[in-house]
Amino acid sequence: MLSFRKLKQKDLYHVYQLDQLCFPQGIAYSFDGFLYFYFYIDHYSLVAEEDGGIVGFIIASIERNKTSQIITLDIHPYHRRRKIGSKLLSRVEDHLISLGVKNVYLQVGINNIPAINLYKKCGFTEAKRLPKYYLNKIDALLMRKNLAEQS
Ligand SMILES: CC(C)(COP(=O)(O)OP(=O)(O)OC[C@H]1O[C@@H](n2cnc3c(N)ncnc32)[C@H](O)[C@@H]1OP(=O)(O)O)[C@@H](O)C(=O)NCCC(=O)NCCS
Repeated sequence: MLSFRKLKQKDLYHVYQLDQLCFPQGIAYSFDGFLYFYFYIDHYSLVAEEDGGIVGFIIASIERNKTSQIITLDIHPYHRRRKIGSKLLSRVEDHLISLGVKNVYLQVGINNIPAINLYKKCGFTEAKRLPKYYLNKIDALLMRKNLAEQS
C-alpha cells in the first residue's frame, strides 16, 4: 500500500540513488547536495513508500519571504503515471499553505515534458525562460504557483 511520510536522515543515500536514476549526470544532485538540503536549509520533504521501499520523494525549501522552491520531485521509473508525483506535490503544498507560504517556484528543463505537464496540471504557470540553465546548454522554465489563490 502506498503511504507518505517525512524524509528522514536515514533516507538520504536512498533518495540520492533515486535522483541519480531519474536525472542525467551533471543534472542529478550530488550526495553532498542532499546533505546540504537536509541539514542546512529550512525544508519540508516527503517520501512515498510502498511495500517498505521508497518509490518517490519531494524536497521543498521554505524561504523567509513566504516563498518555497521545489528542489526536486523524483518518482522511480517503475512507479510513474500513478499520480504519486501529483500527490507528493499536493501534500507539500497543503503544508506550505499551513505555514503561510504564498508562492512556490521551480525550475524544469524545457525538454522535460512529463514534469512540465505535471506542474501545469497542478496549477503552475510559466514565469520565465532561463537560457542554458542546465549543463550550460539546456534552457529551463521557471514556473510559479500562487498558493494564496488556491485557498
Ligand atoms: C515528472 C515525474 C515526477 C512525474 O511523476 P508521476 O508520479 O509519474 O506523475 P503523475 O502520475 O502524478 O502524473 C500527473 C500528470 O503529469 C503528466 N505526466 C506525467 N508523466 C508524463 C509523461 N511521461 N508524459 C506526458 N505527461 C506526463 C500527465 O498530465 C499526468 O496526468 P495523467 O496521467 O492523468 O495524464 C516523473 O516522471 C519523474 O520522476 N521524472 C524524472 C524526474 C523529474 O523530471 N522530476 C521533475 C523535476 S523538475
